[in-house]
Formats: sequence, structure tokens, C-alpha cells
Amino acid sequence: MPVALIILAAGQGTRMNSDLPKVLHQIGGAPMFVHALEAGRALDADRRVLVVGHGAEAVSAAARAYDPDIEIVVQGEQLGTGHAVKAAREVLEDFDGDVVVLYGDTPFIRPETLQAMVDARAEFDVVVLGFEAADPGRYGRLIMDGKNLNAIVEAKDADDAELAVTFCNSGVKMTSGANLFALLDTIGNDNANGEYYLTDIVAAAAKTGQSATAITCDEAETLGVNSRADLAHAEAVFQARARSDAQENGVTLVAPEMVFFALDTVIGRDTIIEPNVVFGPGVTVETGATIRSFSHLEGCHVGSGAIVGPYARLRPGAELANDAHIGNFVEIKNSQIGEGTKVNHLSYIGDASVGDGTNIGAGTITCNYDGVMKHRTEIGARAFVGSATMFIAPVKLGDEAMTATGTVVTGDVPDGALAISRPEFQTKAGVARKLFEKLKAAKAARDKGQ
Ligand code: UD1
Ligand code: MG
Repeated sequence: MPVALIILAAGQGTRMNSDLPKVLHQIGGAPMFVHALEAGRALDADRRVLVVGHGAEAVSAAARAYDPDIEIVVQGEQLGTGHAVKAAREVLEDFDGDVVVLYGDTPFIRPETLQAMVDARAEFDVVVLGFEAADPGRYGRLIMDGKNLNAIVEAKDADDAELAVTFCNSGVKMTSGANLFALLDTIGNDNANGEYYLTDIVAAAAKTGQSATAITCDEAETLGVNSRADLAHAEAVFQARARSDAQENGVTLVAPEMVFFALDTVIGRDTIIEPNVVFGPGVTVETGATIRSFSHLEGCHVGSGAIVGPYARLRPGAELANDAHIGNFVEIKNSQIGEGTKVNHLSYIGDASVGDGTNIGAGTITCNYDGVMKHRTEIGARAFVGSATMFIAPVKLGDEAMTATGTVVTGDVPDGALAISRPEFQTKAGVARKLFEKLKAAKAARDKGQ
């Protein structure tokens, strides 16, 4: 049976107290709705529909960046979750399959849980995802009769007996597309909020003799984000999951709680990650690498056996071949670093390519930006770059070439050549001593005058 996802992301998120639409706030370096989208994608959903409203343009742009095929519909006014789902009718009217509704602010639903809902659909017309709430508070209550779900009652509309129920609505729902829109046509907004509640489709289904049930998931999965405090908690939950996933995949985390992952981080087996390492979006690390303390990586690739840090910064487009070494206070951006090549100390390599087996001395800078344009530096294989070399890009250093310490490279250097640009070295006998005496006398005069 084909499946379509509808992700609701039109709400403002008033309690975030933010100019940014709520669903664009990030967890693990990705907007929170992307987490819901990813879980849904694991179902192999043929269609993915995002309902936007507040900040529609920004949310749409972010969604397309993650999923170019996502379909976007606009809910002009936010009149409730049922009303929001109806906005998806314009694209799903003729969809012949099941529809799963997810909330963009509920990022942690597991793919396995969605699969359990799919399985339950074999028996029931409508399937809802519920959880036992430690503090049911504002959640909608699931009114069960054995395995059958009779209704969902929103907290604001519930009587005392209903409020005593602790089995709550996560928001996730599944039924056939045709049934979903037909049921939504029958619901009104005569409730405490004056909203069209998606939850009312359950009672509506019961009225027409359909069956409904609820699948149970862990409360942690249904965690919703409504405030900055919730966001921080969600980040902690995400990181805890990401750390344990990495460990299960054979990655050593010396101090797991001090390593921070992004949603799309991929780390190979037997890689070791020391404390205080941050992975921004878009990082892949191959097997057997070592990421040492206080390193920050984003948008980069680290080859097998490479060593990064301590105190290294890999920015977008940094690609390290196998066994490359990037040491302390080194920044690499948009550059390929060859196999076994070493950039160990205090260097900036940007918009460059460096061949295999090259050594880049301390304090080397690729001067890539002229104030208007960026230029490339090409450094060959098995080359030796002396400390404090400045490459004034665009410039090339050949294979097995060398630069003398302190050289400012302003032209291309052929293979095997030495580049040297240095003022003549001189010593001037006694001059330092005289200078010291002069300066000390000046200081004494100044101190006396005060
Ligand atoms: C909803 C459920 C409640 C459940 C709770 C779980 C309803 C009526 N209630 O309540 O049973 O326990 O979630 O967190 O569904 N949205 C739109 N357009 C709208 C309204 C909402 O897109 O017009 C989106 C929001 O952006 C959000 C989601 O729908 O992503 C849920 O809306 P929200 O207002 O947070 O519903 P709750 O009151 O939390
Ligand atoms: Mg909510």
C-alpha cells in the first residue's frame, strides 16, 4: 500500500518567543521538522506533504533544501490541526493509499513505531499513536475500550473522569487518504478552542461504524517542543540517542556526554572521538580515524586513519584523504588534503588542494581572498612547505618542491624547485644592548615624572 506523509508545520510557536518559525529551530544541526521528515522517510513514503503557515517562505525553502520532492501546501489561517490537514487535500485528493500525519514539532518518533502503526492498519481503519504520560497536563486523552479507541478528548474539553486518563495522544495518526478527508468534512469547531481538531476524526470514525485503535510508544518519542527549555531538552535527548547509536556502530567515545553530533553525522567503525568535539551538519568520518579534543567539524570528510586535532577546525568542503594529520590550531576550508599529508600546527588552508605525502610547516597560510574574490592554491605531492610560508593565491607549488621558511609565494613553483623569498640576514654587533639601555633610561625618566 502506498504511503503519504503529512507534516504539520504551520503553527507560530508563540511560547518560543522568537522571530523564527518554531519548526526552523534546530536540533542536532537540522530544523526540527526535518527529524519528523526523516522518520517518515524510513517508511518509504511515496509522497511527502508539508503544511506551512507562519514563516511559510522560510519553512518552504528549508524543506526543499532537505527534500527537493517535498510538496508544500499553505494553511492561510491556523484554525486547528484538522483544518491544517485539510490543506493537504489539494495535492492528495486522488491519492490512493494510507496517510500518516506527523507534527513538525515532535521530532523523535522512531521509524519502528511508524511501522507498528502500518502493521495495525491491517486490522483497524484508524490508528493513533499514544503514550502513557507521566504528567498528562495539556495532552489530548485517549478514551479506550479494550483495544478499541473510542475518542480523543482535548484536555480543555475533558471532564474529571477523562482528565484522570493518563494514556495520551502523541498527534501521529494514520488512515486511508480518502477516509481522512471524508472524516475531516464531518468535524466542526464547537470546542473550548474554537478550532477544527484533527483528533475529532476518531469519534467521527466511530459514528460511521469504523474501528480505531492506539499503538503505544515511549513518552520520550512523543516529546514536543514548545519552548526554549523544551528545545534544550530535545537537544539533550537527540544527543543521547546519537551517542548510543555511534557506540553501537563501533565508535569509541572517550566521554560520550562531551561529544555533540548532527542529525546526518556518519562515523566509521573503530574511530576514536575524544572529549569536547562538535560535529556540525554534513560530516562523514571513515573507519579508524581519531578526532582529538576541542575539534569542530562541519561539511567535511575525514578519511580512514586520519588524525584531527586537538583544537582543529574543519570547515565546509574540507576533504582529508586517508591517514592525513591535521593538528592544533589548524583551519581547513574547501580544500583537499592528500593521503598521509600533514598540516600539524597553526595553519590556514583554504580553497586549496594538497597532494599526497606533503608536509605543511607551522604557520602556513593560503592567502585565498583578495578582498573581492577567492583564489585557489595548488600544492603538489611529497612537497615540503617551510614554516610561515604565505601562498598568495592563485599560485601553484609543484610535486617534490620546497619553500624556504618565511617565503611569500607570489608565483608558480615548478616540480622539484625551491622557492625562497627572504631579505638578507644580518647581525649588528652591540646594537641590541645599546637599544635596551636607551629604552630603560626612557622608562626611568617617565616613571620619575609620574
Ligand atoms: C495536539 C493534539 C493533542 C496532543 C498534542 C500532542 C489536537 C487538537 N490536539 O495538541 O491531542 O496531545 O498535540 O503534542 O490535535 N498546527 C498547524 N496548524 C494549525 C494548528 C496546529 O499546522 O492550525 C500544527 C502545529 O504547528 C504543530 C501541530 O500542528 O506542529 C500541533 O499543534 P499544537 O497547537 O501544538 O497542538 P496541541 O495543542 O499541542
Ligand atoms: Mg503542541
